[in-house]
Amino acid sequence: MKVTVVGAGAVGASCAEYIAIKDFASEVVILDIKEGYAEGKAMDLMQTASLNGFDTKITGSTSDYAKTAGSDIAVITSGIPRKPGMTREELIGINAGIVKTVAMSLIEHSPNVILIVVSNPMDTMTYLAHKVTGLPKNRIIGMGGALDSARFKYRLAEALEAPISDIDGMVIGGHSDTGMVPLASHATRNSIKVSEFIKEDRLQQVVEDTKVGGATLTKLLGTSAWYAPGAAVSALVQAIACDQKKMFPCSTFLEGEYGLNDICIGVPVILGKNGIEKIVDIPLSDAEKAKMKESAEGVSKTNGLLDV
Ligand SMILES: NC(=O)c1ccc[n+]([C@@H]2O[C@H](COP(=O)([O-])OP(=O)(O)OC[C@H]3O[C@@H](n4cnc5c(N)ncnc54)[C@H](O)[C@@H]3O)[C@@H](O)[C@H]2O)c1
Repeated sequence: MKVTVVGAGAVGASCAEYIAIKDFASEVVILDIKEGYAEGKAMDLMQTASLNGFDTKITGSTSDYAKTAGSDIAVITSGIPRKPGMTREELIGINAGIVKTVAMSLIEHSPNVILIVVSNPMDTMTYLAHKVTGLPKNRIIGMGGALDSARFKYRLAEALEAPISDIDGMVIGGHSDTGMVPLASHATRNSIKVSEFIKEDRLQQVVEDTKVGGATLTKLLGTSAWYAPGAAVSALVQAIACDQKKMFPCSTFLEGEYGLNDICIGVPVILGKNGIEKIVDIPLSDAEKAKMKESAEGVSKTNGLLDV
């Protein structure tokens, strides 16, 4: 199993590290445009192998896509992250050009690759990858919901004063401060609805804190976060590489599911060796349906800024 990670920055390096530590891939290639940067990150990570006990071979490349040839899965993290006060949508101008070029270069050398798009605004970048590459929809996956759901579970565990392993919950919709739809009514602690443990206003606070989870960290860090994004990407890569058939909310091209068309947005999917093996159409309440519709309108508006 060969995995390429484009972008050796904060998220790319963190994702490569988690993939290596889990030791399910034989090879990880990190590629960056910055001279020597990916090679340096790869060498540094390889020097953790004997300490962390993995055999995954990590190599770096400065813009040489020949080294990525034959990749089964490729992750696109190249592009600029947001600074405090910025929205993800403001990154579109620079990141659209980068994602387009990177996606085409990856497929040229790995025609059977499954692409995972991370660069923001992620739903629009996933849509762009879909439009420019013409790959079947099961092979283009946007990562956002897996991260947002992890942040939702973190906030729920905090509010319930419970261990995170007791908590289950999911965030669908667009990967943006206003577009996320945390499914509070479906969230549980050991299969019991969380509303049995906390009051409605506290649950609403959890929902709001989840939606601005990325912005909260960007304010603290001065740039966007990397550990949880890297871990979320590595979980998707592992689900595909190990054919786990696990369910994650991912951004995928919709053709009527959830009443939406011609858009990539976060919905629950089953991930296995073919990428997105199934879109899971779960029943939503009227309020959740309305939020999903509003979220899709926001993503479509950003998609309208693309030149495709
Ligand atoms: N989808 C999500 O949930 C999520 C979460 C966190 C970050 N992000 C996004 O991921 C992206 C990366 O974030 P980061 O914090 O790692 O940024 P970063 O600046 O640390 O790293 C980005 C890297 O991309 C490289 N790069 C730029 N153009 C390139 C090109 N054409 N080819 C190859 N490499 C190129 C840069 O040299 C840099 O090393 C940002 O757009 C950020 O908003 C998404």
